[in-house]
Amino acid sequence: MGKIIAVTNQKGGVGKTTSSINIAASLAATRRKILLVDLDPQGNASSGCGIEKDDLQSHMLDVLLGEVSATDAIMKVEQSGFDILPTCSELAAAEAHLLEMPDKESRLKIALQPVVEKYDYVFIDCPPSLSILTVNGLVAAKSVMIPMQCEYYALEGLSALLQTIEQITEYANPELKIEGILRTMYDPRNRLALEVSAKLHEHFEEKVYRTAIPRNVRLAEAPSYGLPALLYDKLSAGAKAYLALAGEMIRRDEVAAGSAA
Ligand SMILES: Nc1ncnc2c1ncn2[C@@H]1O[C@H](COP(=O)(O)OP(=O)(O)OP(=O)(O)O)[C@@H](O)[C@H]1O
Ligand SMILES: [Mg+2]
Repeated sequence: MGKIIAVTNQKGGVGKTTSSINIAASLAATRRKILLVDLDPQGNASSGCGIEKDDLQSHMLDVLLGEVSATDAIMKVEQSGFDILPTCSELAAAEAHLLEMPDKESRLKIALQPVVEKYDYVFIDCPPSLSILTVNGLVAAKSVMIPMQCEYYALEGLSALLQTIEQITEYANPELKIEGILRTMYDPRNRLALEVSAKLHEHFEEKVYRTAIPRNVRLAEAPSYGLPALLYDKLSAGAKAYLALAGEMIRRDEVAAGSAA
């Protein structure tokens, strides 16, 4: 049964999409079966995988409205070796419509149920908001990965996100856990980054991934070629960091499975 992870942070531009695509590609390179779900109307995960959003036959909006099954909307990202449930910009306009529907918070969860067992990991790339779409992501997920930049306002934003997660656990998804905190665009020479990083460790302890993702121009360039960094420049610091992170995630899961057995 696939492990469903919502990649979320209501702060914009912290590396949610970059992390979703590159973790998906790195885990796929270790032969794990991966589904990437693009829940952001910006559609950056879809375009970053080389998908022409305007040419899609079916996409996330149809799936949330119950008009198309997830199976029919899912596409293969051939080169990268994982699957994607793509989105298009119409999803933004559909948010209000979604609010009037029955099961408005669990439409993604219901839609993903028939496909989850085909995958080892499902990553949901959430939009930068705490909107009904993000709530759908948090209700569908088993856990939350929070990418963040170690800067001054990051911790303030984090407490709003933690409150939302707590609310979701209270009324909709009691099993929702924090999967991990991922430091992105990280520069250990920056004193503030070190301070914020120390605070994160104090508060979240082992939930903070040991692997931090450095700022690396290849990570920013790769999406314009529709590729993950691993295929664009596999020797780049960015590609290596996401491979290391995938290894860390697998080891964590093996340890957790071992202690549960
Ligand atoms: N480690 C990195 N090094 C260099 N550039 C990065 C890195 N991570 C992300 N970027 C760049 O920073 C910008 C924001 O990243 P990204 O789109 O992944 O963030 P996001 O949290 O998904 O944004 P949004 O909130 O708009 O969905 C992008 O231009 C991306 O290419
Ligand atoms: Mg994004």
